[in-house]
Amino acid sequence: MSDVDAQKRAAAEAAAELVQSGMVVGLGTGSTAAWFVKALGARGLDITCVATSIATGELAASLGMKVAELGETREIDLTVDGADEIGPGLALIKGAGGALLREKLVWEASKRCVVIADAAKRVPVLGRFALPIEVVAFGHRTTALRICDALAECDIGTAPRLRLREGQPYRTDGGNVIYDAPCGRIRDPAALAAAVKSVTGVVEHGLFLDLADAALVGTPEGVTQLEP
Ligand code: A5P
Repeated sequence: MSDVDAQKRAAAEAAAELVQSGMVVGLGTGSTAAWFVKALGARGLDITCVATSIATGELAASLGMKVAELGETREIDLTVDGADEIGPGLALIKGAGGALLREKLVWEASKRCVVIADAAKRVPVLGRFALPIEVVAFGHRTTALRICDALAECDIGTAPRLRLREGQPYRTDGGNVIYDAPCGRIRDPAALAAAVKSVTGVVEHGLFLDLADAALVGTPEGVTQLEP
């Protein structure tokens, strides 16, 4: 196992210890979240899970975990999920795995959200990672032009790139497409979030602001807990 994978796994296993029987637990998406699902499955607790993607739901079900749809359970007690970048105040960029919309729906429906990651995900300023933006497939090229204008309003002069898989536009679980916008240093994440979200056709973006309650970050020295 690589050092990075070992850090992801250690953070995920620490997060699994936060779960108790009787809880409703939100399950994130991505390689770190998959370690969490496996660690949780191994604990054999009596819990109900809400998955942020079809892939995560299938993984949890394959481990014998009870999986419900969002809204079918009482409020989610704890959601644990990965991130692509962790910035100051636990502002995050998410969405490399394409699950940002369902992730944000589940995060916003949770009493507590804990992000798990390897140490390389921490950044002093968000924006090293291109910002994923989920867009309705109908007219997405026109929407992309309007996203360009919204980015320019925030002094970000970049053209979002349509995400492809095997030469075709990548489709999310919801049937939408994703544009990745290399923003560089994001000086005002809240302003950027508002500008992008105001574009008709944009379903959601990968800026997760004021949502994470804590982070568990795997490092070569062990797992570090961060607060906003
Ligand atoms: C999924 O859409 C993403 O938000 C992931 O949570 C994020 O990309 C982190 O993925 P890894 O845990 O695989 O690095």
